[in-house]
Amino acid sequence: MSVLAIDAGTTGVTALVVAVDGSVLARGYQEFQQHFPEPGLVEHQPEEIWQAALQACREALDGAAERPTAVGITNQRETAVLWDRRTLASPRRAIVWQDRRSAAICARLAEAGHEPRVAELTGLRLDPYFTATKLAWLAEHDKRVWREVEAGRVALGTVDSYLIARLTSGGSHVTDASNASRTLLFDITAGQWSAELCELFGVPMDALPRVVPSYGPVARTDPEAFLGLDLPIAGIAGDQQAALFGQACHSPGDVKCTYGTGSFVLINTGAEPVRSSAGLLTTVAWGAPDGSLAYALEGSIFVTGAAVQWLRDGLGIIGAAAETEPIARTVADSGGVVFVPALTGLGAPDWDPTARGTILGITRGTTRAHLVRATLEAIAYEVRDVVDVMTSDAGLDLLTLKVDGGASENNLLCRMQADQLGVAVERPKVSETTALGAAFLAGLGTGIWSDTAEIAATWQLDARFTPGPRDDAAYDRWRLAVEKSKGWAL
Ligand code: G3P
Repeated sequence: MSVLAIDAGTTGVTALVVAVDGSVLARGYQEFQQHFPEPGLVEHQPEEIWQAALQACREALDGAAERPTAVGITNQRETAVLWDRRTLASPRRAIVWQDRRSAAICARLAEAGHEPRVAELTGLRLDPYFTATKLAWLAEHDKRVWREVEAGRVALGTVDSYLIARLTSGGSHVTDASNASRTLLFDITAGQWSAELCELFGVPMDALPRVVPSYGPVARTDPEAFLGLDLPIAGIAGDQQAALFGQACHSPGDVKCTYGTGSFVLINTGAEPVRSSAGLLTTVAWGAPDGSLAYALEGSIFVTGAAVQWLRDGLGIIGAAAETEPIARTVADSGGVVFVPALTGLGAPDWDPTARGTILGITRGTTRAHLVRATLEAIAYEVRDVVDVMTSDAGLDLLTLKVDGGASENNLLCRMQADQLGVAVERPKVSETTALGAAFLAGLGTGIWSDTAEIAATWQLDARFTPGPRDDAAYDRWRLAVEKSKGWAL
């Protein structure tokens, strides 16, 4: 028996066929286009995400000897997607989580005093990161589309809902609580959409998906739409929550960090939503079929892998992300260069949508190797920023950090991370933990695994990085540079 997992990330879709022992039988991957219509704006064409999902699944299924018995979905979160309920065509491009266009709306709502109540209900904050602010922008600026939403012809959702609509040929309009909890419209204590928040952001509640459990069958794929497959969709979770599940962080106190486009550190806090006093988000980890919710505290860092991507595509100083390690190793340190990759503003713990990328300390001796090394250091510093806050908020000592995602394959970064945190960093054999988490949820929902202990037993260590001495002066310089990056795009 095996499960097909679809991980629709920010820059591409991964599909894995996962066996009962947690091993990956086959994989597929397809990138899709990023649209940057203006500085600070990031959009995706939903049809391209769907086509990439189909292509990735085709590739994975071609490589697998057996047909999977269930499908799990995980996805980039917060991105606002709209589609016609009848034709499933999108009337406009999706507004991506990184997009900053709703900064003025957030400032307006904060000024009117709404932030404390919004935070109380959602565990989040007023930041352009979250879906409802993007929807409020659409209501103000794309009247043509918004009229269709209000008339009930166009559905709203995140990427999970959109993919499920496509997989079921429009049969299902659903999401799970982990995704819903990222919209700014979901009451995380009551576990349902909030009428008060829908009114505040001007979002018609009946345009939103029905919230279903994160595991257990919710719909079946339509073979005509989905590669001839009639399978139960039995697992849904936002990508960071799926990675938490995939890293077997099933118990309160378990922590993971996923290095993707951004990096996201989550700690499982169990049945209690823990509130942060210093810039972390309280979020739903997953929802059980009995309606109970597990929660997490999250540090969301917007740009880490995307900074490496910028070195490759924006500056052209590296050919591929994997080159960063050998290039950075040609120098002993960053030569005094500090790079704050606030390319789409700053997320946790500093939260400044007006911050922008800042490079300090350049001299005539600076080379690309210094800049590449400074980029890896920045990722390690950013993660330290949120872990420091997290351990004090959750009142615990971190013993190890489980890491995953593309950049976790970079040994130099893992070592830098261990040094900065002063704790061991552990990397599992399967680094595509996000997709693995979606497979585990779908398998748990269909009886392939009977409980989380069986899932945890499949977790295998690939490498452990123990901390060396840490350079606190360098970290102080980093914090100084972060302060200088703020307020630039006012
Ligand atoms: O909140 C955004 C997050 O879900 C995106 O994750 O891995 O696509 O960078 P990723």
